Amino acid sequence: MSVILQPITIGGKLALKNRIVMGSMTRNRCVDDLKPGDAQVRHYGDRARHGTGLLVSEGVFIDWTGSEFPNAPVIINEEHAQAWRKVVHAVHSQGSKMYLQTWHAVGRLQHEYDTRMKSTNIPVLAPSDIPATGGKYRHLPGNPGHTDKLTVIENPRTVIETYRRAILLAKQAGFDGIEILAQGGYLVHQFLSSRINHRTDAYGGSVENRCRFLLELVDVVAEVYGGAEYACVKICPADICNGSITTYKELKETYSYLVTELVKRRVGIVCISRRGSVFDDDFADTMGAPGRPEEFALPPGYDPVLDLGSLVKYPGSPSLLMANHAYTPVEAERLMTLDKIDLVQIARPFMFNPDLVVRVRDGIPLAENDRGSMVEYGPFKCPDENYNDWPVAAAM
Ligand SMILES: Cc1cc2nc3c(=O)[nH]c(=O)nc-3n(C[C@H](O)[C@H](O)[C@H](O)COP(=O)(O)O)c2cc1C
Repeated sequence: MSVILQPITIGGKLALKNRIVMGSMTRNRCVDDLKPGDAQVRHYGDRARHGTGLLVSEGVFIDWTGSEFPNAPVIINEEHAQAWRKVVHAVHSQGSKMYLQTWHAVGRLQHEYDTRMKSTNIPVLAPSDIPATGGKYRHLPGNPGHTDKLTVIENPRTVIETYRRAILLAKQAGFDGIEILAQGGYLVHQFLSSRINHRTDAYGGSVENRCRFLLELVDVVAEVYGGAEYACVKICPADICNGSITTYKELKETYSYLVTELVKRRVGIVCISRRGSVFDDDFADTMGAPGRPEEFALPPGYDPVLDLGSLVKYPGSPSLLMANHAYTPVEAERLMTLDKIDLVQIARPFMFNPDLVVRVRDGIPLAENDRGSMVEYGPFKCPDENYNDWPVAAAM
């Protein structure tokens, strides 16, 4: 491996020691009042110690909205920022960089009976009154699924201002930048989709209007951080998670415009996931049966990373292209050598390979998960279990 381990600079400002990025993973272990604690300091710190160039935090809720994961963290006040500061410090002390991922699960993927929603009295907000099907809400009696009682967001600017609060706190905590989660069928993604967004104001209807919410979030990152190069936008044009599937025609129209606008704004990184165009068993639970229904079919072999990525990756582009979903370091290296991508975001293998970068450097095969699916979100007896107890190759 050579290119993947070479340094690269984001937006001419943020130097990374290599091109391997640890992807955002909700691990449902923030048991100290929705704040990261020692377990998270160790988890992210270990992956930085073993050479990861850039780490993206697990999805962090910008408000008391929560999700199906009761121990996923929030960043709402200074106490939360202080707790994250310790994680960022552990990463920085190893010469790595870290982004906070902003997550807003409201929108249709929520239930008003959720403890956080009940205790804070926040309604289930959505771009339009179009309930989501599916969802389990495993921690609620009867596994009720997503709610059908939605409150349509009157003024999207109020939600954008809530994001601003989180982004300001992230800066205060020392995060080097922000990854905006705009896939997975969550709120930002809901605005992008004509099936889910039926608004008649400036945030719905045309492609430009549906992209407005996300582009205004990028502007907030630019305002808070002093430049859009500190923003990474994670999109998944072919996604089928949480009812987010869209036709190929809409995918092309929406994401061609969106990616062009992101690059015009000089965002640091456009992260494109190829989920929904390639399939793997791990996502069967959230995605349903593999494959896409006929009306949502893609052209054979369609790869959104290479197709839409060409709008990001050209000589003189201000933005870097990061590829995500089921990439091996070998495939990523090949695409980097061909000058098709700049960075690779690897997620699942980082769970059980804290020394992933060292293994890539030394040609040591990556470890597989041999402990089952509770590794991901639990249950666990203590947060370190299946989180901070994976051996590194050197110690094996
Ligand atoms: C346990 C788990 C939790 C995840 N949580 C998040 C999350 O909070 N935010 C996000 O953007 N993606 C999340 N993802 C998706 C990953 O970031 C990544 O996009 C996906 O796993 C594909 O990359 P990979 O094939 O390298 O794992 C999660 C994936 C897993 C397995």
